[in-house]
Amino acid sequence: MTSIDSKYVLLTGGSRGIGPIIAETLAKRGAHIALAARSEEGLQKVVESLKKFDVQTMIACVDLAQPLQCQELVSTVMDKFGTIDILINNAGLETEGAYTHLPWEAIRETIEVNLIAPMYLTHLVLPHMLDKKSGHIVNIASVGAKCGAPYAATYCATKAGMLEWSQALSLELANTGVHFSTICPGYITEVGMFAKFGLTAPRSIGSCTPAQVANAVEKAIEHNTLDVIVNSLPNRLLFALRELSPSLGNWLLNKLGVVDFQRMKVGL
Ligand SMILES: NC(=O)c1ccc[n+]([C@@H]2O[C@H](COP(=O)([O-])OP(=O)(O)OC[C@H]3O[C@@H](n4cnc5c(N)ncnc54)[C@H](OP(=O)(O)O)[C@@H]3O)[C@@H](O)[C@H]2O)c1
Repeated sequence: MTSIDSKYVLLTGGSRGIGPIIAETLAKRGAHIALAARSEEGLQKVVESLKKFDVQTMIACVDLAQPLQCQELVSTVMDKFGTIDILINNAGLETEGAYTHLPWEAIRETIEVNLIAPMYLTHLVLPHMLDKKSGHIVNIASVGAKCGAPYAATYCATKAGMLEWSQALSLELANTGVHFSTICPGYITEVGMFAKFGLTAPRSIGSCTPAQVANAVEKAIEHNTLDVIVNSLPNRLLFALRELSPSLGNWLLNKLGVVDFQRMKVGL
């Protein structure tokens, strides 16, 4: 079991949504936290809320769509903390809508923030982790990585890419002391990119709370778990079925109202 106490964490997407809840959960366990995002105001608020814990914190205002800023982020955190034990690739964008109506720029930015930035940050921190023979990369994907959803095609592509990339690296770097976890939440209630719609997910799709996601991150680090789905059991069965028979899976997704729900969510 890996201890979280006194570990140095770099968490992206720390300014709002589930990032602050992940930060608080790990700070409670004694982790020092570097929070990254674009909004300085959002990051400062989160740092304030972490003051009750006796841990070191820092913020870094970065646009992860800019590779140079990813580089600067890692060197700034290394300078201040001296190490990065755990990288949590949590920042993400959901670019929803009919694929043909979305501007190419929005599609490209989604791929940059959701997939290229996590890959690049990992590429930057891995040499240090491999030298130390220890480290953990936690990737916040989505159930969209398991089951592509309509009107969120680019988002699902980035999350599926993240999942397979993370699993491939865990095989490539087995026995190096560096571990990989992918967390796949369903729709998250209370805060974040789904909650802002004010909708209730149909039972057939399922949902989870931010606390369940943060708890999954904590447990994945402690137990070196490769892949965690944070959602209800029927949803897992649906993914398994879609894997076995994609056309039957798609038929079911239509029947269960997933397609209609996704369409309604984006106002079509
Ligand atoms: N909410 C859900 O239902 C759900 C379900 C499954 C998976 N997830 C995944 O969980 C993660 C967090 O989602 P969330 O719901 O907390 O999202 P959110 O509320 O929209 O927050 C997104 C975070 O990412 C940061 N971010 C976005 N673009 C960025 C950029 N270009 N550079 C730097 N930071 C950037 C945002 O900060 P700034 O705007 O300050 O830069 C913010 O801190 C995402 O990877 C998402 O795909 C969410």
